[in-house]
Amino acid sequence: MATQIHQSHEVGPPIAAGLPMPQFRKITVEPLSGACGCEIGGVDLREPLQPDVLAEIMLAFEQFLVIVFRDQDLTPEQHKTFSRHFGELTELPQAPTYGGDRLMQEVRREAWEAVNVVPSFEHFHTDSPFLAQPPKAIVMRALDCPQWGGDTAFSNACLVYEHLSDGLKAVIDTLQVVYSGKEIWSRNEKLPPDKRLRLRESHDFTEDQLESIHPAVRVHPETGRRSLFATSAYFQRFVGWSEEESRALLTYLQGLAQHLHYHCRVKWRKNTLIVWDNRFTLHRGVHDFKNERRHLIRTTVIGERPLGVADLTAR
Ligand SMILES: [Fe+2]
Repeated sequence: MATQIHQSHEVGPPIAAGLPMPQFRKITVEPLSGACGCEIGGVDLREPLQPDVLAEIMLAFEQFLVIVFRDQDLTPEQHKTFSRHFGELTELPQAPTYGGDRLMQEVRREAWEAVNVVPSFEHFHTDSPFLAQPPKAIVMRALDCPQWGGDTAFSNACLVYEHLSDGLKAVIDTLQVVYSGKEIWSRNEKLPPDKRLRLRESHDFTEDQLESIHPAVRVHPETGRRSLFATSAYFQRFVGWSEEESRALLTYLQGLAQHLHYHCRVKWRKNTLIVWDNRFTLHRGVHDFKNERRHLIRTTVIGERPLGVADLTAR
């Protein structure tokens, strides 16, 4: 008689975006990939949100870092009202405003415009890291988008950090980054007109407000989760490192964020609204379309002063 061998394979709970999948009862949640992002259903963002619904939206935001709602035909006021659930809104010195409102920005490529090659933003990046309190979240809605193409892709910077060796983690845990937005206007003017970024023409930010030093590893203020906070847009150098040394390490780290198993990708439709965590994800638009208009409007939620590993141990 054959003897059956029972091997014990203990299996934990299903993992989504690097953490056990929570239960949702008030909203539907469909993860976009194993790495980050989910699509939320059962919510009309034009209406006031019940506390239990809002709590689940916030839970999904914390878990997935990128949350997507479809068919949200919001007025700018409704867009701002929903955004304020995530925090206080801020203007930005460099991003063009929408409809003359300092608290709304737009990303626009007209149908007749050629592919906009802006090297730093064609890579995964975090928005406005030169500010003393870089954005916590971006709330972006599509007014017009290509029938196909023009997606926005995201990379989960927590997963990038968590997959590093202990040795490299120990090095970058102590690093600080100098980010500066001081040069972008003068650099832009030197580019040929068809290669220029569409920048805001004037702003009231002082020079001092356009440069900051932040930890290369950012710690989540609520969960303590760590993530890589070093990307090429506005990057100057690591503090105490030469520019050459800094670029070499940054290029390696930035390369890791390109790996598909950290990503999700969102296809825009008219009235799709995405909220992404600008602290713990990287993002980029994918300009793989032609002869169609892409017009996205957004609010920017101000974040905390980035916490580093040293802040954590000092507590
Ligand atoms: Fe961006």
